[in-house]
Amino acid sequence: MRTQTSGLAIETAGLVKTFGGTRAVDGVDLSVPAGTVYGVLGPNGAGKTTTVKMLATLLRPDGGEAHVFGHDIVREADEVRGRVSLTGQYASVDEDLTGTENLVLLGRLLGHQKRAARDRAAQLLEAFGLTEAAAKQVKQYSGGMRRRIDIAASILNTPDLLFLDEPTTGLDPRSRNQVWDIVRAVVSQGTTVLLTTQYLDEADQLASRIAVIDRGRVIAEGTKGELKSSVGAGSVHLRLRDPDQRDLAAHLLRQALDAKVQPEPDQVALTARLGTAASDDSAAGQAARALNELARAGITVDNFSLGQPSLDEVFLALTGHDTHESGRSDDSGRSHDPKDEVAA
Ligand SMILES: Nc1ncnc2c1ncn2[C@@H]1O[C@H](COP(=O)(O)OP(=O)(O)OP(=O)(O)O)[C@@H](O)[C@H]1O
Ligand SMILES: [Mg+2]
Repeated sequence: MRTQTSGLAIETAGLVKTFGGTRAVDGVDLSVPAGTVYGVLGPNGAGKTTTVKMLATLLRPDGGEAHVFGHDIVREADEVRGRVSLTGQYASVDEDLTGTENLVLLGRLLGHQKRAARDRAAQLLEAFGLTEAAAKQVKQYSGGMRRRIDIAASILNTPDLLFLDEPTTGLDPRSRNQVWDIVRAVVSQGTTVLLTTQYLDEADQLASRIAVIDRGRVIAEGTKGELKSSVGAGSVHLRLRDPDQRDLAAHLLRQALDAKVQPEPDQVALTARLGTAASDDSAAGQAARALNELARAGITVDNFSLGQPSLDEVFLALTGHDTHESGRSDDSGRSHDPKDEVAA
């Protein structure tokens, strides 16, 4: 395995972790270029947290190997620990302390002088929009504020590699955007970020490359463009004025697009799943062409939206089954509809 000179922040080969009879991580190969955001996308129970914990030296692998900046995660765990930081799914700030107290305490534990710890705490609270909440106990924070203080705590010392394990699960759109901005800022400082997520749109927004994992295995890997073109360009959702025109509309859409068209339970609604878009024919281009065809046939479209493929659609395309069948934990209910409305 290559080391220092490879330009890789993370390189794993056949990484395995078993819990009893479960192969939580089942032979994962990853190559994460330094200085980028790398997305690990997968449903509940796919093995994301287990992978991250091994790479952060919190769990010992049962097989395979991994290097972080050229250091073996088992034999050179101290070197690895010195360069990484982890913001966990279930993170580690003290609920009874205030935002400031948490950050100052952690700064002191990292060896900062009192004054320096205070300054750094104030600087991060300001940068993360938490100045007003600085003197409040963390248990009074909203979910979004909580996630931001967690990330702040993990970058008190700027790490070379930051693990963000589902940083926005359960957040509202505004809080998600704030966290995304923070991630972009962290990367612009030169930190490599490994981000796990269940949301394709999040990986799409932030990551340069994405690995899709399912049942402990990488089932697809590539740039986000590559991934999307293997999965399809997304779906067009239409609402017609007249339910009697729906069959004709479905027929025209099938002809105009390389798309599977499905009627929805609502009698005026249709969904067309776009095929693999050629690079010169974007999803928006395909959708525009479809609308044109409908207009020419005199079909009135009341509402139109273009959605990115959801994680379910990605999984269906890659595995032939949806995420609910692949999740091995009971908690498979966290779904998300990343329908990005694009102007009709
Ligand atoms: N400490 C443990 N003991 C036993 N089984 C575990 C343990 N940690 C994880 N598992 C199992 O390993 C598998 C992978 O879990 P992991 O937490 O890595 O998934 P995940 O992708 O992070 O899921 P989520 O999106 O729900 O966080 C699951 O089947 C889980 O139940
Ligand atoms: Mg997890």
